[in-house]
Amino acid sequence: MTLESTPDSVVSETTIVPGDEWWRSAVIYQIYPRSFADSTGDGVGDLPGITKRLPALAQLGVDAIWLSPFFRSPQKDAGYDVSDYTDVDPLFGTLDDFDRLLETAHSLGLRVIADMVPNHTSDQHRWFQEALAAPEGSPERDRYMFRDGKGPNGDLPPNNWESVFGGSMWDRVTNPDGTPGQWYLHIFDKSQPDLNWENPWVREQFFGILRFWLDRGVDGFRVDVAHGMIKKAGLPDYTPPAEGASMGGTGTSAVDEDDSVPSIAEADTVLAPLIGDPEPAPEPPYWGQEGVHDIWRGWHEVLAEYEGDRVLCAEAWVDPLEKVALWVRPDEMSQAFNFAYMFTDWKASALKRVITESIDAFGGVGAPATWVLSNHDVVRHASRLALTADSPQGAGIGPLSPGKPDPVLGLRRARAATSLMLALPGSAYLYQGEELGLPEDMELPDDARQDPTWFRTNGEKYGRDGCRVPIPWESDKPAYGFNASGKSWLPQPKDWAPFARDAQEGIPGSTLSLYTDALRLRREHGLGTGALSWEPGYGKKVVAFRNGDVLVLTNLGKVAVELPVGDILLSSEEITGGALPTDTTVWIQL
Ligand code: GLC
Repeated sequence: MTLESTPDSVVSETTIVPGDEWWRSAVIYQIYPRSFADSTGDGVGDLPGITKRLPALAQLGVDAIWLSPFFRSPQKDAGYDVSDYTDVDPLFGTLDDFDRLLETAHSLGLRVIADMVPNHTSDQHRWFQEALAAPEGSPERDRYMFRDGKGPNGDLPPNNWESVFGGSMWDRVTNPDGTPGQWYLHIFDKSQPDLNWENPWVREQFFGILRFWLDRGVDGFRVDVAHGMIKKAGLPDYTPPAEGASMGGTGTSAVDEDDSVPSIAEADTVLAPLIGDPEPAPEPPYWGQEGVHDIWRGWHEVLAEYEGDRVLCAEAWVDPLEKVALWVRPDEMSQAFNFAYMFTDWKASALKRVITESIDAFGGVGAPATWVLSNHDVVRHASRLALTADSPQGAGIGPLSPGKPDPVLGLRRARAATSLMLALPGSAYLYQGEELGLPEDMELPDDARQDPTWFRTNGEKYGRDGCRVPIPWESDKPAYGFNASGKSWLPQPKDWAPFARDAQEGIPGSTLSLYTDALRLRREHGLGTGALSWEPGYGKKVVAFRNGDVLVLTNLGKVAVELPVGDILLSSEEITGGALPTDTTVWIQL
């Protein structure tokens, strides 16, 4: 692979020969440690719990796990507020527990990806506490984004930026003598102060943190907020476009009835204020600045010191896909989440377009396309795909949300969508519980909610708790087998027994069986390392393509479509009478 540096704004023109690294075609399963498996019974999942359940993931057939943060943290943002990057939070266990998890995973053939959170620390991190105690203008203050306030007494925040979780992006500190002091920037919660990545000291610290985990044997990192770490010089005011103003609706609910140019994605979102097409809003001065790429070149070099194809995966909420591809140039990161794909309307024309654009954009820099439908920040796709109102990504859905999804329709579309996704070449991400067909929990009581979004918007936005509820393992056990005590940090719905893993295992037609079969066939037919060619002749409402010796058809129209003669390898619903029903995917042996 060519590792030549290129100017920031230009995609490499050198010949890029993709390598054969494992992550190019891997299926990576996201574990949200709080909600996967709890060995202590305190109601919060933990590392020993995960280790015990790893055989189930090996059996499912994924290649790697990505663990959302388990580092020391006051847990104000469920671990995305780190107070010590080189230790395990006691809530989740110990470093020894982590080593055991890693060893067990590796012995089962599963790689392990940790979640690095470099944009901000917790306000309880020693670096921030030292910065608070140090005088204005000190090197300690320069680790973070401290600024003087505006107005005669500095009473006003330095600019008008609004936090992703609601409210101002600035909070004012009190000096040791009790007088009001400077303001500090936090893109997210006020307990998550942004680091100053222009400061070489900060960069050095993270090289050390990366090596700490690489030395322990992790196979790479998912990198949180990989688009936010450099802010525009001068921190100019910025007013985002009115919600939904410039970028069209999502219409995820609509059956594919029209052929108008589809929107790629959703603008009305907590976490993705930038995603949109065809005319992206002007760049907010805190997202996607050119300077971030230099950071990734440095991280790339650190990973290159280690053997075994370690991976860096960017959480980069930028638009369009050609811009996302800048994060995965040969000398930067390995993969970037494809949020444009995640937010694509359930329409054949939209899907075909985003798939083509993804393969072109990522392929243009020699990176694999990636695919994802659910994660811990968005409405689970078994609910999202049947919403009859615009999808409020990141803002969640709850008891009073409009356009509540029909669960049967949602699950049917989710099964079709996943069957399509797992046939695409490149790397795919799964989020714990989707293999069970779990819907979003839309009935969480207000007093159970934990997401800072809920608190910072005074309950106006539900936030992301509905996709984070502990997952069910055994239908007739306390907490559905999540633990032995029955406790659960978010209450589990009363009707989840049929979703439990043991209720689906080995049952033909269950969602778990569908995922297991799809992953096995994906491997057997080399779909992850394959190439896609569109298949004509199935009409505008069908996504039809070949990948190697497999023909994949997804019917998004209202009318059943005649199937070609051939062996059906996989189908997301039962097929009768040689026709492909609506909201169904089949894989046919060519
Ligand atoms: C990322 C995480 C999200 C977290 C935020 C702040 O978007 O995925 O869960 O709240 O960063 O760290």
